Amino acid sequence: MSEHRVCVSDYEVDAQKILPKAVYDYYRSGADQQQTLEDNTAAFNRWRLRPRVLRDVSEVDTSCSVLGQPLSAPLCAAATAMQRMAHPDGETATARACKQAQTGMMLSSWATSTIEEVSVASDGGVLWMQLYIYKDRELTLSLVRRAEEAGYKAIFVTVDTPYLGRRWDDVRNRFKLPSHLSMSNFSTESLAFSEGSYGNDSGLAVYVAKAIDPTLSWDDIAWLKEHTRLPVVVKGILTGEDAKQALSHGVDGILVSNHGGRQLDGVSATLDALEEVVQAVRGRCEVYLDGGVRRGTDVLKALALGARAVFVGRPVLWGLACEGEKGVIDVLTLLKDELRLAMALAGNTRAHIQSIPTKNLLLICNSIGATVHL
Ligand SMILES: Cc1cc2nc3c(=O)[nH]c(=O)nc-3n(C[C@H](O)[C@H](O)[C@H](O)COP(=O)(O)O)c2cc1C
Repeated sequence: MSEHRVCVSDYEVDAQKILPKAVYDYYRSGADQQQTLEDNTAAFNRWRLRPRVLRDVSEVDTSCSVLGQPLSAPLCAAATAMQRMAHPDGETATARACKQAQTGMMLSSWATSTIEEVSVASDGGVLWMQLYIYKDRELTLSLVRRAEEAGYKAIFVTVDTPYLGRRWDDVRNRFKLPSHLSMSNFSTESLAFSEGSYGNDSGLAVYVAKAIDPTLSWDDIAWLKEHTRLPVVVKGILTGEDAKQALSHGVDGILVSNHGGRQLDGVSATLDALEEVVQAVRGRCEVYLDGGVRRGTDVLKALALGARAVFVGRPVLWGLACEGEKGVIDVLTLLKDELRLAMALAGNTRAHIQSIPTKNLLLICNSIGATVHL
């Protein structure tokens, strides 16, 4: 197996060789025909950079902040469930890697390590808690309390999953956790996703239908705000209308996300939805993006379209599968180095959002085939 991996896709190729098929399929898949999954990456190719030259790029500063937390780059780890399927150290390895890379990690509610274990592993690094709202609201609030007590810096509440998207491979594989693992934040078999059988379906789809609250509405965002002192970010916004709703319910941030193409197939690529959200928000809260970020130039394009920072999901899992903590450090470092080089070659020396030229200056939309400024 090649140890000389030079880009994120090299890590995916090796991860596929290492992981059991059902695990790789679960990590990789999108919903239905996977149009949105493919479009998330394709959208980055529809934009071209307009580089400026002769601008002394000997010093490039990739640092930024997210909700006041300083980070070495606008590039963080998205919540991805059940990381111990990728490597025995799972989320604790990712937490150590993010600390080492001086970036933030969003921990999934469905982690195979506890909130507290990850906090210890992170050793003062920046952690955020991704929250699914369960039918059982006391249980939901207990996750929030535990995150607060363990020093997490924000709650990212996922709003695009009233039911699980239909991921064909997971249905075919009757996906469930290997028997030695469980969703560690829960104490009963049924909540920990460790029941013996989930029938002929994706086990996770059955789990979500049983446990997660599909009645969720904007009132629940207000409810969550009332019950936590942490900043609340909504994860899974794709329209200007919903961005405005989110603002009127007092959110502290918006993550433009389609869940990595795993929920409603046929929705826009996140890069295509970003501008609409940024325009609706008009600077009133921080806006982030995830979905399809695989290269440093992707990060730069997202920043130029108004994202304050981006999150990466699958690339972290590929690094984790290849080499645990070191693999995650390598992937994050690779992307950060690519971003630094892209910034230098495009003539930008600072990644902080106010220092990045807007799209008119930095980007050309290639899909309409001309050098117009949109
Ligand atoms: C294997 C996997 C598991 C995920 N688990 C969660 C989760 O537990 N909670 C959540 O809000 N999002 C989850 N997501 C979505 C990610 O947080 C993120 O939106 C997405 O992965 C970004 O796209 P990317 O993988 O192309 O970077 C998951 C994504 C993947 C690929």
